[in-house]
Amino acid sequence: MNVVVIGAGKMGLPLACQIASRGASVVAADKNPHIVESINRGVVPFDEPGVDELLAQVVGEGRLRATTDTTEAVKTADVTIVIVPVLLTPENKADLGIILSVTDDIAAGLKKGAMVVYETTLPVGTTRSFAPLLEKSGLKCGADFDLAFSPERVKSKLVLRNLTVNPKVVGGFDEKSAARAEKFYADYIGAPVINVKTLEASEFVKLAGMVYRDVNIAIANELARFAELKGIDVKETFPAANTDGEAYLLFPGIGVGGHCTPVYPYFLIHGAREVGMEANLPILARQINDGQAGHCLDRLSDAIGDLKGQRVTIMGLGFRPGVKEHTCSPAFLIGEELARRGADATLNDPLYSDDEIRHHGFAPSSLEGAALVLNTNHPEYADLDWAALAASGVKAVVDGRNFWDRAAIEAAGIRYIGVGR
Ligand SMILES: NC(=O)c1ccc[n+]([C@@H]2O[C@H](COP(=O)([O-])OP(=O)(O)OC[C@H]3O[C@@H](n4cnc5c(N)ncnc54)[C@H](O)[C@@H]3O)[C@@H](O)[C@H]2O)c1
Repeated sequence: MNVVVIGAGKMGLPLACQIASRGASVVAADKNPHIVESINRGVVPFDEPGVDELLAQVVGEGRLRATTDTTEAVKTADVTIVIVPVLLTPENKADLGIILSVTDDIAAGLKKGAMVVYETTLPVGTTRSFAPLLEKSGLKCGADFDLAFSPERVKSKLVLRNLTVNPKVVGGFDEKSAARAEKFYADYIGAPVINVKTLEASEFVKLAGMVYRDVNIAIANELARFAELKGIDVKETFPAANTDGEAYLLFPGIGVGGHCTPVYPYFLIHGAREVGMEANLPILARQINDGQAGHCLDRLSDAIGDLKGQRVTIMGLGFRPGVKEHTCSPAFLIGEELARRGADATLNDPLYSDDEIRHHGFAPSSLEGAALVLNTNHPEYADLDWAALAASGVKAVVDGRNFWDRAAIEAAGIRYIGVGR
């Protein structure tokens, strides 16, 4: 079984390693020559638990290699998997530029009898629209090659575990494609496989899950705003509400970040408009969740006055604690909101160098200023010397993740602003 995985990033490389470790001969195709060179040396170019060992093993055994030449790799592939990013255009629509160019690369090398599987999250209906592009190969979809969609359902830092535990959902261009994808993933991933039959159904599975999460966070955020006005603490009341087996309230916070949750609801929102429907809840959820940064800063102004000219340090660029990933991080919204208020904003993140922080548009700093705004609950931020911070001039903190001990902060004479507290 010759497999090509196109996009050897944080999601694609672990997948390629897993497939190779189960006996396939795998080529990881990536346009970035540094990534390719690193993989061929057996070195993982990012931090993901367990992948170092697995890559060293499969490269050592000659079962995985990397290349920048996608078309050449596809020429001998029985199965080609696409897992390159699709992010948003400035109008919040799916930016298909990369995946369309990859599809052209595949068409130029596709062999008869092969199967192409897209794993990148896509708006419903997109994979089927790739069939005519792949047919530029001169082959007929469904007759000469198979086409399937199988959403990746993993999370960085947990990729290998998620790959083998989370059920793999597959759907196909036709019944034959779906059945072939079902067998392939059962054999080469080892997770349970759920065949939802069509391309559209499998695309929808991922979007439905993402919209569910974003809307549920929005409910938590809206209830948190009510609790703030009523002097109620959600940190105590949400767990109590969750005890009857009916509710599963998530945590409120200063914003939602990442490749997935703040991005994929837009695929559904625009897809719904195309069929004459307004997806009201997802639209509102996006507004509420993206409004949290400004809302938290309004509460900060209420506590320490106009932020204009005041030094405020954002704590955390990443969107998850302990993970160096910042795609759509709320740090960017917090930065914009601070700039709009004329604050002298800086950013601290122990996982990023000062140059990296500057590269992302922030001024690096230590934990200093009139206020600290916590975006990422990195473990490094767990035990801070509040008395020393108060002595250095910190007057208030926004605990955007309800992470800190409120009593300890207030005992040091610092104003504490949590979310829904
Ligand atoms: N990182 C996560 O936690 C996460 C979680 C769930 C879903 N996803 C989704 O998985 C997909 C991939 O994400 P990722 O985190 O692996 O991204 P990534 O940026 O780590 O990797 C993407 C890789 O694709 C390569 N690439 C870009 N254009 C290419 C081209 N034309 N030809 C060949 N290679 C090309 C890049 O060089 C890069 O190595 C995205 O759709 C993302 O939204 C990511």
